[in-house]
Amino acid sequence: MSTNSIHFELNGEQTYLEVHPGRNLLDALRDDLGFTGTKKGCDNEGLCGTCTIIINGKARRACRTSVSDISGKRITTIEGLSSGEQIHPIQQSFIDHGAVQCGFCTPGMIMSAKALLDANSNPTRNEIIQAIQGNYCRCTGYSKIIAAILGAAAIMRGEDYFPVGGNFVRFDNVGKVTGKTIFAADISLPSMLHLSVVRSNFSFGKIIHIDTSSAFTIPGVRAVITADDIPGTKAFSDLWGSKNDQVSTELHPTTALEPVLANDIIRMKGEPIALVVGTDAESAQIGADAVQVSYDPIEPNFDPMHALGNKAFPLHPGGNLYEHGEIQIGDAAKNFASADVKVDLNFLQATQDHVTLEPDCAVASIDDDGRLVVVGPSHQPHVRRLQIAHMLGIDPENVRVIVPPMGGSFGGHHHFWPLLAVALPAYLLSKPVRLVYSRQEVFEGTLKRHAFNISCQIGAQKDGTLSALQAQAFGNAGPYGGAPTIGAFVALCGTGPYKWPAIDYVSRVALTNWANAGPYRGYGMPQGVLPLECTLDEVANQLEIDPLEMRYINIIDHRDGTATGQSFDEQFAIREVLDAIRPKWLEMRQSTVDLRARASEHSLYGEGLATNWYQYGKSGDLCTSAQAGLNKAGQIVIYYSAYTAGIGSDTVLTQ
Ligand code: FES
Repeated sequence: MSTNSIHFELNGEQTYLEVHPGRNLLDALRDDLGFTGTKKGCDNEGLCGTCTIIINGKARRACRTSVSDISGKRITTIEGLSSGEQIHPIQQSFIDHGAVQCGFCTPGMIMSAKALLDANSNPTRNEIIQAIQGNYCRCTGYSKIIAAILGAAAIMRGEDYFPVGGNFVRFDNVGKVTGKTIFAADISLPSMLHLSVVRSNFSFGKIIHIDTSSAFTIPGVRAVITADDIPGTKAFSDLWGSKNDQVSTELHPTTALEPVLANDIIRMKGEPIALVVGTDAESAQIGADAVQVSYDPIEPNFDPMHALGNKAFPLHPGGNLYEHGEIQIGDAAKNFASADVKVDLNFLQATQDHVTLEPDCAVASIDDDGRLVVVGPSHQPHVRRLQIAHMLGIDPENVRVIVPPMGGSFGGHHHFWPLLAVALPAYLLSKPVRLVYSRQEVFEGTLKRHAFNISCQIGAQKDGTLSALQAQAFGNAGPYGGAPTIGAFVALCGTGPYKWPAIDYVSRVALTNWANAGPYRGYGMPQGVLPLECTLDEVANQLEIDPLEMRYINIIDHRDGTATGQSFDEQFAIREVLDAIRPKWLEMRQSTVDLRARASEHSLYGEGLATNWYQYGKSGDLCTSAQAGLNKAGQIVIYYSAYTAGIGSDTVLTQ
């Protein structure tokens, strides 16, 4: 491949690069020059804004710029804003305003702000919104970011400015605002190989043959690994490693083992079949594209109701029922039949991706003591360590798992797969290996929020007293489940904090050929609460009772306990909360009536009020703890297993 010598100014330094002129600037900055503060969040589509840099004074996407276009130009990256301990006022303002959580969007966001403030020292709020509209943030929300930019502008104009907020600053923030925080995809090791994944194009089928021969003809391809190369355990369930086997047995009427690499049957589009290892990411990808997999297709089941029917082909030997949860109190059918008002509504809630701005990634290598070291986002590094050891058939003492700062998670990094995927070739080849998902792989190959189809029937008396709740919930777990109590959670959250004389709530979760489902922020609560609260609103509407009063009439207090009989020792303040918000609620209701009058075919209005409860601790077998002690130097050392997905757990534990 022919190369050109490109000369440009980078953060004030004259810089030369000998590269192919078509090489994308983001890859050149990150991989050739080591400026990893500029992040890669989408597949060079210019959509996420994490790679924002400044070229000749203008904010630009590095991923949409080829190296040949920067010849003779002035480039500033996040690393160019600070000097030693001295950080830029915009960076300081992001820290002072708490405008940083996981930090993955932060460098790009700050560079957009810098370009704006260099051109306009006194921007309006709307001008700031315009300037950062191409920079997505998944964690922080935009209010604090906008406030931080307004504050930075004031400070840069020399005005007195005092940010509002607490006085304990998160100690991981300086690295995040300066681009020095190292996320997994920023790690580059000597002689590191790159991993690409051969994924299924079909949703359901038997694998007839995997032909890897063509991949070996690609220059740079070093190895192709299939399930046959796995020396130890080849498949895991979500509850693998759980201390409480009793729980896992009860919750799994079927065995939904997820293979590390499929070797006889594939159960979803995007399922991993082989790993291709190359000297660079491009050759690994071309090698993966060259692997031929022939299938004997089976008619897929995407619909959980169909998957649970008699005619559906079973995904696993135990059938397609993953979980069954029920709450039965009184005679719900009789109470519903005799209710003054009856409402029956159906709700379809779709699959959702977590869309962390950092794509899934991991790096594995062998350390000087011969230990396999795996670095990557994870919620359960201790379980992953055991899984890796079992997969490789080695002593867990020879495996170390390190969780670096994560660019968000929201439940998404619960999946075991990426860490095991890099561990396998690193161990077999005794070489460092890195895997970074493309955004398409994130959408196809990671866990999702469970889609649910829920029919909800609520009956009530004329005075607003609830008579009965009936619901039939069908959850879509995808082929392997990945969230063993989700059906029960939906039912539990779906009863809400209300007094019900009778309940018949049946929640069934099916294994299907849809996307693999797993934990997602709220874990079953949104799916349960939405049908309940919307149906309750419709009951209130038909009874001409204000939605707040409808809830007030039926809310439990601590003596009532929950629908499943859980009691509370102390009073809680739902009634007080409803009392406190009533004046504002009524005011808002009045103003939305006005809005309604102004609505047109192009504008919508909305108002809403809901209650919910949410329980911590899952099924009681997932617990965590922290220990603190003094070392010989008199320092306090804290040992804990909380991961750092941007929620500030390090800082909280230090406090
Ligand atoms: Fe913005 Fe996490 S802090 S994406």
